[in-house]
Amino acid sequence: MTVQEMKNEILRLKRENDICILVHAYQSQDILEVADFIGDSFGLSERAAEAKQNTVLMCGVRFMAETAKILSPHKTVLLSNANAGCPMAEQMDKKFILELREKYPGYAIAAYINTTAELKTVCDVCVTSSSAVKVINNLNNKNVIFIPDCNLGQWVAQKLPQKNVKLFNGGCPTHLLASASDVETARAAHPDALLLVHPECRNEVTSLADFAGSTTEIMAYAKKSYAKEFIIGTENSIVEHLQFSCPNKLFYPLSKHLYCHDMRLTTLTDVYNAVSGKVREEIVLDDETIRLARRPIDEMLRLGAM
Ligand code: 13P
Ligand code: SF4
Repeated sequence: MTVQEMKNEILRLKRENDICILVHAYQSQDILEVADFIGDSFGLSERAAEAKQNTVLMCGVRFMAETAKILSPHKTVLLSNANAGCPMAEQMDKKFILELREKYPGYAIAAYINTTAELKTVCDVCVTSSSAVKVINNLNNKNVIFIPDCNLGQWVAQKLPQKNVKLFNGGCPTHLLASASDVETARAAHPDALLLVHPECRNEVTSLADFAGSTTEIMAYAKKSYAKEFIIGTENSIVEHLQFSCPNKLFYPLSKHLYCHDMRLTTLTDVYNAVSGKVREEIVLDDETIRLARRPIDEMLRLGAM
C-alpha cells in the first residue's frame, strides 16, 4: 500500500466506524492530513468534548487521550500508540500535591494539562499553554501553586504580577534543551528571522523571543506575519508544518535537539491499525477518577471562556 492509499483507507474507515481523529500539531504531516481536527492541547480538549462520533482516536500522547476520556466518558477513546506518554506528565504524584495542600493552605493548585488523570483529581484547575494566562488571571485566588512546568509557570507569573505564583522543579525535557546560546547562533545565521518560541522553553530563551505562545499560536503568528523568515523554538515538527502551510516563507529550527520522542512515536500505520480495529489501546478510567479529574478541566474551560 502507498502512503496515499493508506490515507484514503483511513478516511474511509473512520467514516465507516464512526471515529473522530484528533491530532496534536506535533504529529507528522501524513497524520495531520487524515485529521478531523488538528490543534494544541486546549483545542483538542474542546474538540474531544464536542465530537459527534462515538469513538475518538487521539494521535498525540497519553494525557491527551485521558483528557478526552474524562470529557467524554461514554465514548470509546483510543490512543494511537500505546507507548506514547509525556515524561512531564509523570513528574509529580498525588502524595506530593496533597503535601503541598497542607503546607500552603489557601493556595489554588493549577495543573498544566500535561499531567496524569490521577494527578488532576487533587488539583483545582487545569491550564494549557494557550489558556494559562487567562485562566490564572480569572482565578479568584491571588496565591497559586503552578505544577509541574516551572518554565511555563514563570512565563505566566511574569505576565500576571498581581498574582503570587509558587513554582517547583519540573518541565518538558524537550523544550528544556533550547538555550540562550542556541538563540545567539540561530540569530547570527538568520539575522532577518523572527524568533517564535513555546513558553515551555526556559526563561533565558522566552525572554529573547519576538513571540511566545502555544503551538497553535506560534503557527497562527507565522502565517499572519509580514515577515518572511522565522526561527521556531518548539518541537521541530512545527518547522515542517509551517513550511507546508507557507511555502513562500522560510522556517528554521532553533535547535536540532527539539525533538519529542514520545510525540514522534505515532506513525500513519498506527492510525491505520487503530481505525481498522487491528490494534486497540483503549483508555479506561474508573468513574471516581473521571468525576474528580473533570472538575479542574471544566474549571479551565469555564475560566478560559470568560
Ligand atoms: P500545546 O499543545 O499546548 O502548545 O503544548 C505543547 C506540548 O508540549 C504538548 O505536549
Ligand atoms: Fe511532553 Fe514535552 Fe513531549 Fe509535549 S513536547 S509531550 S510536554 S515531553
